[in-house]
Amino acid sequence: MPTAPEAPWWRDAVVYQVYPRSFQDSGGDGEGDLPGVAARLDHVARLGADAIWLSPFYPSPMADGGYDVAGYTDVDPRFGTLADADALIAAAHDRGLRVLFDVVPCHTSIEHPWFRQHPERYVWSDRDGPQNNWLASFGGRSWSCDEGSGRWYLHSFYPEQPDLNWRRDDVRAAMADVLRFWIARGVDGFRLDAIDRLMKDPELRDDPPASGPPALPEHGGCASLDMRHSRNAPDIGDALAVLREGAGDDALLVGEVYLPAAQLAPYLEHVDVAFAFELLHAPWEATAVREAIESGSDAGRVAWVLSNHDFPRLPDRVGAGNVRAAALLALTLPGPVFVYQGDEIGMADGPGREPPDDRAGRDRHRHPMRWDDDAPHGGFTSGEPWLPAIEVHGGGAAAQERDADSVLALYRDLVALRRELGEGLEFVDATGVLAYRRGPGHVVAINLGDEPATAPAAGAIVRATHARRLPAGAPAPRELASGEGFLALV
Ligand code: NOJ
Repeated sequence: MPTAPEAPWWRDAVVYQVYPRSFQDSGGDGEGDLPGVAARLDHVARLGADAIWLSPFYPSPMADGGYDVAGYTDVDPRFGTLADADALIAAAHDRGLRVLFDVVPCHTSIEHPWFRQHPERYVWSDRDGPQNNWLASFGGRSWSCDEGSGRWYLHSFYPEQPDLNWRRDDVRAAMADVLRFWIARGVDGFRLDAIDRLMKDPELRDDPPASGPPALPEHGGCASLDMRHSRNAPDIGDALAVLREGAGDDALLVGEVYLPAAQLAPYLEHVDVAFAFELLHAPWEATAVREAIESGSDAGRVAWVLSNHDFPRLPDRVGAGNVRAAALLALTLPGPVFVYQGDEIGMADGPGREPPDDRAGRDRHRHPMRWDDDAPHGGFTSGEPWLPAIEVHGGGAAAQERDADSVLALYRDLVALRRELGEGLEFVDATGVLAYRRGPGHVVAINLGDEPATAPAAGAIVRATHARRLPAGAPAPRELASGEGFLALV
């Protein structure tokens, strides 16, 4: 009998997102760095994660938190050196953690040498002004004037991020080389930034006005347009094939495709998984969350994500009382799941900075990781942190280590239990609670509402959000308080 092909390592993986600037400072300059990440890998390994994804640490003027890359194959001095990147990859592998780097193929920093040395690699207006009506993701028009040449260039995001022209062979070849470079250094895959923006309408036609609210929330004013020409061109597969070729067949490619899950199919022909953003944005309500899971599941190979460096953190989005329930949800879904640093201790948003805050206000979601409440700045830095180290409701990671009832303990238990869940997900009809079966053996029930609600009948508790009230082995209750949930035997 032919044996079933072995599932890839990432099929139900837990990927831990590190935002390097805010994870751990090793040098005392108040900003996190790669040696700092390496020093904290045991925390990630103890969580039981399979892999880490690092947001960009490449040379960058930081107009967009590092997503404005001025050199694809190097490390910004603020984050360390190439040797530090090598050491980090090795240290992760030593702990059984795979490593994903972030590649930003759509645009460079305006300070990337290519912008001066190879202006032909970018998209220019042939008018003395914007070529069309396209709007940039974080506000304003997508066209800015290059002071040097007086010509107008395209930028899907900030003006400091000129878009590369992905219809050009030299751009494609250069970016495939970038992927090869990091694969040769040992990374296991990439998170590919904003790949729905790689290919635009070749004629650069105007976007028509939007006929309704955007399918996914937008940061800037571009929601007023139906972005059918400024992104997601039908020949996107040509560009993605190049990225796949550069990365090789064994690399995990995770697409950040900011489109409704129903539009992911052309991307999934080339990348292994794409984020399903419906769940990240779904109102915390049983029907909406169920629909979000269904739309992602229908799309095929999606990666679940409930929070990241771009959007409000979980306590701010779903409410502090639902942080445990969010963990239960995320970690019992089939398919890869991404956990943003700090989620595992219930970190909330902090205050933004006075200018120069990230202009979309996203620094609030990027405060330093809280390690040790007894150490200066929560153990993040011995210097002055670039963003204040804020306190966490249940204490920093060290305090939560000592508390068997902590959010951290819940994350760890669920990551471990996740390996035991059967395949697939089948919703169980229940009023007010979100309930689903995982394989023949397990059922999950979560009360997302503000009032107590009735759970479907189940057997013994395996792990509940609130283990003091619902310890393992206890019979699953028929009533769940707000924010409460369980994983139980059927
Ligand atoms: C998505 C990244 O997550 C975000 O931080 C960045 O601003 C945009 N892509 C543009 O690169």
